[in-house]
Amino acid sequence: MEQTLKIDMLGHQGDGIAHNDSGAVYVPFSLAGETVVTIGEGAKPELLRVEEASPDRIDAFCRHFTTCGSCQLQHFDHDAYLAWKTDILKTTFKLAGITHEIEPIRHYGRANRRRAVFTGVRTQAGILLGFSERATNNIVGVKECPILLPEIEAVMPYVRDISVIFAPRQGSIRVTVLACENGIDLSIEITKEKNQKSDLTAIRKAIAHASMDHFIRLSVDGETVLEKERPIIKAGIANVAPAPDVFVQASKEAEQDMADLVTKHLKSCKRVVDLYSGIGPFALRLAQKSEVIASEFSQSALDALDRAWRDTGGKLKKITVERRDLTRRPFAFQELKYIDGAVFDPPRAGAEIQCEHIAKSRVKKVAAVSCDPKTLARDLNILIKGGFEIKSITPIDQFAYTHHLETVVLLQRKK
Ligand SMILES: C[S@@+](CC[C@H](N)C(=O)[O-])C[C@H]1O[C@@H](n2cnc3c(N)ncnc32)[C@H](O)[C@@H]1O
Repeated sequence: MEQTLKIDMLGHQGDGIAHNDSGAVYVPFSLAGETVVTIGEGAKPELLRVEEASPDRIDAFCRHFTTCGSCQLQHFDHDAYLAWKTDILKTTFKLAGITHEIEPIRHYGRANRRRAVFTGVRTQAGILLGFSERATNNIVGVKECPILLPEIEAVMPYVRDISVIFAPRQGSIRVTVLACENGIDLSIEITKEKNQKSDLTAIRKAIAHASMDHFIRLSVDGETVLEKERPIIKAGIANVAPAPDVFVQASKEAEQDMADLVTKHLKSCKRVVDLYSGIGPFALRLAQKSEVIASEFSQSALDALDRAWRDTGGKLKKITVERRDLTRRPFAFQELKYIDGAVFDPPRAGAEIQCEHIAKSRVKKVAAVSCDPKTLARDLNILIKGGFEIKSITPIDQFAYTHHLETVVLLQRKK
């Protein structure tokens, strides 16, 4: 069914929102004020054509835009896009009663993603390697991806050569490419039956393949099978070698910016907890001035952090790592007795119970880093109720051209 719709506004998920007799209709790739023709039933039809375009409509810079499910907003004028993203934060916070001024959003240009996760399936011609197609389980074979670092784009033919060796006849593989300081790290995960081991013949073939010259490490199903050099991610003066399966911030510039905000705010603190620390981009920088307890769920992330700290040979203050599921076992306020600063950077669900303990503790300064404005607002309100006030709110456009938004909020206990 075709219908003509007037787009009232751009929603927080990046779809234009119109209204018809049945209620709200979400139209991808449309902009506020546009008249569009859609095709399909229900609340989520497809955009067929734009009848009256918004003055903010521009040409997308990637040929896969609208089929590939990764980017949603390349058709939006740059300044208008940044204003819309900032407004997501403003309105979410306002709804939660937080009206503090918001700093200008930080944006890092197009080609800055250092980590890409592709899906691969075997085809008659070899392998189809790309991102998920929007709204389907199909894969869009990626010929170019201008949001990735050029060094990742440059190795894509070699990524394909190695990936095809592992692609099963049925099922798919997950291929992670990480641009490190000293080269490209390649990690492949194969979907398979439980207890089925990775194919040793395939591993040998991959290791011997000429295309492996373009990678410093190859890991298969979480196990490193070839390491020519330890991959290095810099965190201040420390060099971290991340395990193949751990979280790494998607953009080096965004990570540096967030870390600068966090370290500047907590610089006067003697003892800091870094909660949901990952491989330690905050802890390893904070330890130039403060003793740090870094805690997180992933043992391999903590091992990488700990080794990076030891490798600095005493140049940093003490970092103690402690593995915890912080949802089940947050740092209780009694444990925070000698801690004066805290940073937390949880997954989307946020750090609700942990914040209740920080609120009750004697912690004086907090840096909250989050990828979900809604749960962040909830967590901030817990801290505010507990006696903290907001000093600054900085939106970070780490995932450019998507609706995802990172935020750093700095808080201080009221005197
Ligand atoms: C958004 S990442 C941030 C990591 C790190 N701060 C960084 O900047 O690289 C969230 C981290 O929380 C960890 N995590 C997820 N759930 C957790 C839980 N329940 N308890 C502790 N850590 C958890 C993940 O392993 C991941 O490293």
